[in-house]
Amino acid sequence: MRLLIRNGTVVSPTGRVANDVLIDGEVVAAMGVPGQFDALIGEVEVIDAAGKYVIPGGVDAHVHMELPFGPADDVMVSSDTFETGTRAAAWGGVTTIIDMPVQKKGEHVMESLAEWHRKAEGNCAIDYAFHQIIGDVTPESLAAMRHLVDHEGITSFKLFTAYPGVYYVNDGELLQAMQTTGELGAIMLLHAENGPAIDLLVQQALERGATDPVHHSFTRPSPLEAEAVHRAVVLSQIAGNAPLYVVHMSSGEALEEIAAARHHGRNVFAETCPQYLWLTLEETLARPDFEGAKWVCTPPIRSRDNDPYWSGLAGAAHRSHGHQADLWRGLRMNEIAVVATDHCPFCFADQKTRGIGNFSKIPNGLGGVEHRMELIYQGVVTGEITLERWVETCSTTPARMFGMYPQKGIVAPGSDADIVVWDPSTTTTIGVEAPDRKHHMAIDHSAFEGFVVDGRVDTVISRGTVLVRENQYLGRPGHGRYVRRGLSSYLV
Ligand code: URP
Ligand code: ZN
Ligand code: ZN
Repeated sequence: MRLLIRNGTVVSPTGRVANDVLIDGEVVAAMGVPGQFDALIGEVEVIDAAGKYVIPGGVDAHVHMELPFGPADDVMVSSDTFETGTRAAAWGGVTTIIDMPVQKKGEHVMESLAEWHRKAEGNCAIDYAFHQIIGDVTPESLAAMRHLVDHEGITSFKLFTAYPGVYYVNDGELLQAMQTTGELGAIMLLHAENGPAIDLLVQQALERGATDPVHHSFTRPSPLEAEAVHRAVVLSQIAGNAPLYVVHMSSGEALEEIAAARHHGRNVFAETCPQYLWLTLEETLARPDFEGAKWVCTPPIRSRDNDPYWSGLAGAAHRSHGHQADLWRGLRMNEIAVVATDHCPFCFADQKTRGIGNFSKIPNGLGGVEHRMELIYQGVVTGEITLERWVETCSTTPARMFGMYPQKGIVAPGSDADIVVWDPSTTTTIGVEAPDRKHHMAIDHSAFEGFVVDGRVDTVISRGTVLVRENQYLGRPGHGRYVRRGLSSYLV
């Protein structure tokens, strides 16, 4: 099967060029000046991309489909399955996701990986890969990490300094795991928050009757994110400059720690998510009548200017800054390398409501895999980043960071034909109430309900197969394949 994308503007991190793209089977066969392949018209299927951008399919490096979340006696499973979540991702211009098998305390890494393969195989509409979560640092799990890098195409591991009793690892365990990833040339992903300190603040808040969703944010103040980032940066240095990638970074203070480390030439990288770039505590978590629960995710959505809770505790004037402005600047400056979603949806009606009367029981996570491309494109429209940087942070860098480049993340001869045709001339309305394109995620609300953004996913192609065209879904479960990853392209 051959496809010809004609008259579009191909965008990569290094620029934009008027090129036609010829796809043969699963890969890009050739690219050339407009009209170069016109002799093939009649023999190939043609997609007219006049006035549109032709970009590499989105790579969302941080999602959680069917994630069991919470302590053993109160587990809730995120509401998108691999089938529904990857279909929604495809609608949103994403052609590769990286999900995360979970090893908890006392569990075996290899069993968790087998379970994730069982859940994903035959169900995904788009290609998928895994980062392995290590929740129990033991000689066995350290050996398993080595096996995963050498034999399973898993070259990154997520650990947590948050969620004591569930995923939390202490500093010694973190350092030991970093020594192993450093030795393997693998990357450690870190959920960086000071879990034990947060647990104390949560307990104190509940004791004084502060039970509403907004207290989820007040009890996870941004300095406790920055402190955990700082500690991890130091430990990675002690582990011999072991590569560290801080996931879902939400605050200006944490960004400062990343920027300082990078300034010193360290193997330290950061990711943020659309919710931290666009949403504020005042407009979301602080909504009355428990509605704020829809936006309970970790780290929390930050205040517009600063964190009122901890500034009150400090008892002194402190600098006021906007986290969002800091994060957009970080994206421009490459202090933040990647935008992912941390897609982890929970329905309001029967899942988030578990926390009525106790915010700490609200399952943590937002749904967003469908909207990352359009929400970050809006940063292009508003002048925060360039068109090239949009492609770089949403497609190319995640592919390079996690060992999938140039198979993924670029429109180039020989690369997988994972391509999105993007229409900048129209708009998208986001949400379950959206008039022409209600969202496709299996969640009963939207964190971005009513947002109207410029641009729209027009056509989505995954390894040469058209998944979305003319507002119609043509994909199927099982098209998506497991991607075995190599080592990161960013490490020398
Ligand atoms: O709230 C979040 N982020 N839920 C998903 C689990 C995690 O910490 O990434
Ligand atoms: Zn996390
Ligand atoms: Zn996550």
